[in-house]
Amino acid sequence: MPKLGVNIDHVATVRQARRTIEPDPVWAAALAELAGADGITVHLREDRRHIQDRDVRVLMDTVQVKLNLEMAIAEEIVQIACQLKPPQVSLVPEKRTEVTTEGGLDVIRNRDRVRDVTRRLQDLGIEVSLFIDADQDQIAASKELGAQAVELHTGRYADATHEAEQARELHLLKECGGFAIQQGLVLHMGHGLTYRNVIPVASIPGVSELNIGHSIVARAVMVGFERAVREMKELITL
Ligand code: PXP
Repeated sequence: MPKLGVNIDHVATVRQARRTIEPDPVWAAALAELAGADGITVHLREDRRHIQDRDVRVLMDTVQVKLNLEMAIAEEIVQIACQLKPPQVSLVPEKRTEVTTEGGLDVIRNRDRVRDVTRRLQDLGIEVSLFIDADQDQIAASKELGAQAVELHTGRYADATHEAEQARELHLLKECGGFAIQQGLVLHMGHGLTYRNVIPVASIPGVSELNIGHSIVARAVMVGFERAVREMKELITL
């Protein structure tokens, strides 16, 4: 049974829409823990569009489960990770114009930089996971570069528009997941997973961690909306 890493970036997205103090992703992390999350994931993007440096600092002090910092291999962010020393870092590709992480990190093309960053983080006791596409060459390179874990990008499976395509993508995830485990890597998966499509991925043999964000935050807005409106209505009903 995989562990659940809850990505709380989009709680911060709502806060940043007004540049205010609420909703605080730190509160969301505490609630996620109370609900049974095994880990909390945040992506400190170079453009700081959602999670802020302060969030990561406070989460480092308050999160009791595993804090997983997603980050680009950019030097500014690597230095922040080296100062804060979260238990786990996931290296991801990052483009300023993208809405979300669009593909896996090309660890073959970025071989030297990924090796260097991985070593620097591991020397500080940080576990390194590489977010890559389901591709055996990328997995083999991740092993060679010294990563402890890989997170296979489930976006193509999640975005599949017909059953045959979804089955094909699921098969690829299973095959590549098996290959990663054979290589001695810890297997994580994530991106685009929802309440509708998660079960087949959670059932993949050997997958030890799923990172899920958007769908959980989207549902939280919906399941909490009625209560929030009722509470405001009660307040102004004098
Ligand atoms: N894993 C990684 C590496 C990601 O970049 C993201 C998105 O920030 C996720 C998992 C979570 O994806 P989603 O928000 O679609 O659940």
